[in-house]
Parts: sequence; C-alpha cells; structure tokens
Amino acid sequence: MRSLFVLEKREEKVVENIVFMAIFVHYLSILLITTVFSVVSFLLHRANRLRRLRLPPGNLGLPFLGETLQLISAYKTENPEPFVDKRVKRYGSIFTTHIFGEPTVFSADPETNRFILQNEGKLFECSYPGSISNLLGKHSLLLMKGNLHKRMHALTMSFANSSIIKDQLLVDIDRLIRLNLDSWPDRVFLMEEAKKITFELTVKQLLSFDPGEWSENLRKQYVLVIEGFFTIPLPLFSTTYRRAIKARRKVAEELSKIVSERREGYERGERKSDMLGALIGEWDEQFSNEEIVDFLVALLVAGYETTSTIMTLAVKFLTQTPLALAQLKEEHEEIRVKKSKSEALEWSDYKSMTFTQCVINETLRVANIISGVFRRTMTDVNIKGYTIPKDWKVFASFRAVHLDHDHFKDARTFNPWRWQNIPGTSCSGNFYTPFGGGPRLCPGYELARVEISIFLHHLATQFSWVPAEEDKLVFFPTTRTQKRYPINVQRRY
Ligand code: HEM
Ligand SMILES: *[C@@H]1O[C@H](CO)[C@@H](O)[C@H](O)[C@H]1NC(C)=O
Ligand SMILES: *[C@@H]1O[C@H](CO)[C@@H](O)[C@H](O)[C@H]1NC(C)=O
Repeated sequence: MRSLFVLEKREEKVVENIVFMAIFVHYLSILLITTVFSVVSFLLHRANRLRRLRLPPGNLGLPFLGETLQLISAYKTENPEPFVDKRVKRYGSIFTTHIFGEPTVFSADPETNRFILQNEGKLFECSYPGSISNLLGKHSLLLMKGNLHKRMHALTMSFANSSIIKDQLLVDIDRLIRLNLDSWPDRVFLMEEAKKITFELTVKQLLSFDPGEWSENLRKQYVLVIEGFFTIPLPLFSTTYRRAIKARRKVAEELSKIVSERREGYERGERKSDMLGALIGEWDEQFSNEEIVDFLVALLVAGYETTSTIMTLAVKFLTQTPLALAQLKEEHEEIRVKKSKSEALEWSDYKSMTFTQCVINETLRVANIISGVFRRTMTDVNIKGYTIPKDWKVFASFRAVHLDHDHFKDARTFNPWRWQNIPGTSCSGNFYTPFGGGPRLCPGYELARVEISIFLHHLATQFSWVPAEEDKLVFFPTTRTQKRYPINVQRRY
C-alpha cells in the first residue's frame, strides 16, 4: 500500500514533468523562432541601411580577420606603402577596410583628415581599445572628453608653450642632454640612449627630479607598461599584458607617493613651478591623487617613444645623407664657436638652427611614429559623397598624405632641403600634420622640437659616429629600427 502510493506519486511527477517539458519546448521554439526572425530582420535592415548609406568603396577581407594580416605584413617591412597605394589606386583616397577586428574607413585624403581632426568632439571622438585605456588610466588626457578635456588640454599647452620652454625648461634640457652624452661608452644603442634622455627630461619637467636611481627604476617599470600597449590584451593568455598591468600599478604607487609628499609641502607653503605644481595648486577644484597620476602617466607615454624615435631616425637619415649631415654640423659648429665648451645654449641659439628644423620636419614626414589617428563616428557622417555610419572606426592616415607624390615632390625620399625653399606653400597647411590638429593637437609639439634640436646640437658637435651594424626600419608594431640603431662613437674633444 505504501509502496503503491509512492509509485502513484512518482507517476504523477513524471506526467507533470512531461507536461512541463512540452510547454518548455514549445516556448523555446517560439523564442527561437522570434530570435532568429529578429536577428535576420536586424541583419537585413542593417545591410539595407548600409547599402542606402553608400559607404566608401573597399574590401572587408576575411570574416573577423579582415585585412589585418595584410596590413601587419606590409608594415613589418621597410616599405609598407603598397598596402595603401594598391587600395587608393583601386578605390580612391577614402576606402573601407576591416582591420583589428572592425570595419574601418581609411582616409588618405588631406581634406578628410582635416575634417576629422577639426570635428573632434562633434562628429568624431577618439577611441582606444579597452586594453589600452586600462594601461593609460581613466583620467588620462588621451581619453578625456568634452569640457574637462578642453581645460586640461589648455593647461598642458600652457605648461609646454614656447615662453615656458624659453624661460624655464631650456636650461635643464641643455644640461641633462649634456650629462647623458658625457656618460656614453664607445658603442651605444642610440634608440636606448634617446629613450633614457626623453624620460629623464619628462620626469624633470613634470616633477623637478634630476635623473638618478629613482628615475631609472621608474623607467624600467615604465618600459613594461609600454610593452603592454603592443600585445594581444588577453590577461589570461598574455604574460606581457599581465606584467604591464602590474608595472602600471607600481608606477602609480611611486607617483602617488610623490604627489602626497608634494601636497604636504604645498600645505606648508612650498611652491614649485613644474607640471605637478600646477596640478596641485592652480585649480579651484581639487584633483585626487589617482587623477593626477593618470594625467602624469599620459604625459610620460605621449612624449616618450615619439620624441626618442625621431631623435634616432633623424640621426639615421643624416648618416645616410652625408651632405645633409655636413650642413647640419656646420650650422651647429657656428653656434658652438661663439661659446665656451660648457656654455649653455640659449633660446636665440635654438632659433638660429634653421637647417635643423628642416631635418626634423623631414624626419617627421617620412617616418612619423604616429602614422595617423583612430576615431569613432558619433553619428552618421557625410563626407565627399559617402556616408560613414554612426559608431564606425575611422583612421585618418597622416603618413599616406605625407608620402603622396601629389602633395610632396619625390615624396618617398628624405630631402631636408625641400623645406628651405617653399615658405608657407605646399609643405605646410593641410598636407603636413605630424602633430595632429584640432582640439587634440599635440601639446608637446614645440617641446619635442626643442629637445630634438638640442640633442642633435650636442651629438653633432661632440661626436663623430658610424653605424655599428646594418639596421633596418620597420613600421609595426611601431616605427623603429630592428636593432635599436647601434653606433660606434668617437669624442671630438
Ligand atoms: C616627435 C614627438 C611627438 C609627436 C610626433 C607627437 C604626435 C602627437 C599626435 C599626432 C597627437 C594627436 C593624437 C590624436 O589626435 O589622437 C599627439 C597628442 C598628444 N601629445 Fe604628442 N607628439 C610628440 C611629442 C610629445 C611630447 C614631448 C609630449 C609631452 C608634453 C606630448 C604630449 C601629447 C599629449 C598629452 C597628447 C594628447 C592630446 C589630447 O588628446 O588632447 N607629445 N601627439
Ligand atoms: C604660455 O603659458 C603661460 C602660462 O603658463 C602664459 O602666461 C603665457 O602667456 C603663454 N605664452 C604664450 C606664448 O602663449
Ligand atoms: C616645419 O613644419 C611646421 C609645421 O608642423 C611648419 O610650421 C614650419 O614652418 C616647418 N619648418 C620649416 C623650416 O619649414
């Protein structure tokens, strides 16, 4: 009796289960059908919309990978131009491609580039992958938007404008570069030395610290952070990325300590006229330590690889162009003969380095480390008869314009003299944007020029050098030489 009851109970349960399953399957199928239907209609709608929108022509390549592999293999060589040349020839100077996981509109057109830069914050906004935002920190100038960005950009500009460089920064730039060159052995990796120099200069400008063990240790952590920018950002798979995140934390801790100390000093009435001083003191609102640290990290990132690469490549191109090197040396000897051996350079000396400016412009033109900028459309954008849909990636390629024969004669040869003859004509304006433009124009453009010029001055007057090995340029993941440009140096006095 008892067992029968149990059986009945069990049967009831089975029936209940079957009914439940049937209902469940029924619902599931309805759900499935509606989902499939809505996905299909969404895709159709989107495809229709895209067709209606008239995208720039192009090829999206393979699913997911798109044309990423073609891009990477081109930029790993000394001559990456065919990737863009081929597409410009086939589709025109604005084309659609699919790189780094997303469809992307690629612009090799100066007017379009200018339009993109000028409409920052209105039609376009800057866009970095999450992995890079994590390393930069969320309060970085590079990631800021809107009004806050406007104010912080202006602050950064006013900290690095020409009167500040002239009155405050130049003395230390001259002194620290000299100090660094004094310690060189007979053989150096120029790229390494240039990186050390730019890091030391930035630490001095931001925090007023002279180079030493502290800054060198910070730089070592810092190098690990930078490596993280160029790896596959999957924390579970990439040890480099994990190491970068850890190093970022250490850098932040070190800087945060300094910020706290400086705050205490500020309370006691101590004032320093560096960037940190401005961040602590000059604002009605108070920035948190985290905000200040993110801000400092961004400035360290933005000036480091860029300036040191141009220093190194200017030397490489000069070495390959003996006439240009001779003319540069002459310019700097002329400045030096009027001074004693250890006398500091002045602003008027910098201003008299006219050929040096041509060399710097030409180096930036043929091998800028920032070959262009990524943006995302904030709305459907109409340009040149095409429509770029909202939320699409756009790449404004400066490099493609700088190396276009229509805009620069013999565009693909290093020729610093081209900058001598044509003041304000084809070499300026819309065609030449090594420092970007619009609301995100590089705030360090003058500072970088001064640092590179002073570096070239001391190198050219104190040393002669020969490359120690053959060393090739590559453009991926960044613009650099494969072997960090080793040179044998000889002191001239
Ligand atoms: C040769 C050296 C340099 C080159 C070629 C360069 C190039 C650029 C370019 C093209 C941009 C625009 C990025 C964009 O629009 O998304 C930029 C932004 C920036 N640069 Fe430079 N830069 C150099 C040196 C420096 C230095 C020395 C500093 C240090 C003060 C610096 C600080 C910045 C900052 C903070 C930004 C972000 C601006 C913003 O998003 O509002 N750069 N740089
Ligand atoms: C540079 O910035 C300072 C403030 O830091 C300002 O007083 C000065 O007028 C600026 N100079 C130029 C040339 O813009
Ligand atoms: C170098 O380029 C800048 C634009 O970034 C321009 O203003 C300047 O006149 C150029 N210098 C020379 C010597 O042509």
